[in-house]
Amino acid sequence: MTLEQLVNYAKTYGYIFQGSEIYGGLSNTWDYGPLGVTLKRLIKDAWWDAFITHDAKVVGLDSALLMHPKTWEASGHVGGFSDPLIDCKSCKTRHRADHLIEGADLGLSADGLDKDALERLIDEHAIQCPKCGAHDFTPIRAFNLMFKTQLGVTENNLQDIYLRPETAQGIFLNYKNVQRTSRLKVPFGIGQIGKSFRNEITPGNFIFRTREFEQAELEFFCEPGTEKMWFDAYKEKMRTFLRTLGLPESSFKFADHPEEKLSHYSNATTDIMYEFPWGYDELWGLASRTDYDLTQHQTASGVNLEYIDPLTNARYLPYVVEPSLGIDRLFLALIHAALRDEEIENGTRTLLAIDPSLAPVQVAVLPLIKKRHKALAESTFQSLLGHFRVQYDEAGAIGRRYRRQDAIGTPVCVTIDDDSLEQETVTLRMRDSMDQITIPLKDLPDTLSTHLTSEAPWQPQKKS
Ligand code: GAP
Repeated sequence: MTLEQLVNYAKTYGYIFQGSEIYGGLSNTWDYGPLGVTLKRLIKDAWWDAFITHDAKVVGLDSALLMHPKTWEASGHVGGFSDPLIDCKSCKTRHRADHLIEGADLGLSADGLDKDALERLIDEHAIQCPKCGAHDFTPIRAFNLMFKTQLGVTENNLQDIYLRPETAQGIFLNYKNVQRTSRLKVPFGIGQIGKSFRNEITPGNFIFRTREFEQAELEFFCEPGTEKMWFDAYKEKMRTFLRTLGLPESSFKFADHPEEKLSHYSNATTDIMYEFPWGYDELWGLASRTDYDLTQHQTASGVNLEYIDPLTNARYLPYVVEPSLGIDRLFLALIHAALRDEEIENGTRTLLAIDPSLAPVQVAVLPLIKKRHKALAESTFQSLLGHFRVQYDEAGAIGRRYRRQDAIGTPVCVTIDDDSLEQETVTLRMRDSMDQITIPLKDLPDTLSTHLTSEAPWQPQKKS
């Protein structure tokens, strides 16, 4: 599927709409429709279950989006959270210099290069503006990505603050509160999910790079010297999580950052790169951040953030391992991996073969003939409503209704027909195989439960 097909699909079936569409749209903003919001919620729940609920060493947090401005000075975002901005003097378009270089199809990498090195590359290779073809650029400027806003209600009492560009700092600021109240001993982690904002120079590729997006971040606090072990453990956990949600292992890979390109505070970093329609791109980052963040906040706030080991009385600032996931990017990857057009006996069908645990609609109840089967179909629908994500659909030919459910990813359709009235049986029609089986109506809830139960390894296993 191309990116354009994905965008069309998402709009057609109510997964994602363009933001502010009736006013002509606001560029690079997207609204999640009824199916989209459900899928997004299920992805977040799966992450929360896997990384927090079923891990005794990790707890959750929901910190404020607006934070004290000193946070962003201490974290380095005020001084250093910028992208290299360059303007084409000819057509006045604005570019990210590193993207300009890497997009020029010359096999060049701009990874970790400073302003001078980027300018040199652009000149040496006479790189052209992708819009007008000119090679006539302004010098590169550092463009801070944080959105500024003002807090306060009177003109002379306004305070400049920022919308958070990541959720992580809310965790660092609460690390002592959480540790004390949860009585957790190092090693332990704190996770949270929430919106982040970055004034990206070149947003694009649908929901891949936007200015408002959602992150699922976890800061794992450990004893210095043990961070590599936890880094490796999280690497495996991330891989298992993606696989279990249905992303084929062949569709993503780890890109370890070489030592010379690590950020000054990191002693190991890797990114999971998923093969999006435009090529491999970052889905999920994992960084071993040493004690950089806690040191910065301890110095800037004057509050002692050291941990005291209850056994040895040793005092230290824990090291941190941080898996940081973009929820919208995972959403895009999951749809991309699951969506296909398939040749079938009498034409083609669009199929979203998404893992049943993530299907926004798990079961569709369909009366074969509206007039005759409506009453039983409706009561069956009502009886399932409290237990599954169910949809009732009586409009149009049965084949077209199956096609629609295939397209939105519904794993099972339950058809009510004459046999249902006469013999109290129902037909289950399976999304992927299109197989149909007949079962007694009374067995329906149990059969559906078995079929739809997630085998996710982080779920408590049922005792046999
Ligand atoms: N606390 C570390 C941190 O924020 P990051 O690599 O800047 O690291 C982490 O971001 C993840 O957030 C990325 O791997 C990506 O999935 C997601 N992300 C970052 N910027 C994004 C954007 N503009 N739009 C959508 N997702 C974004």
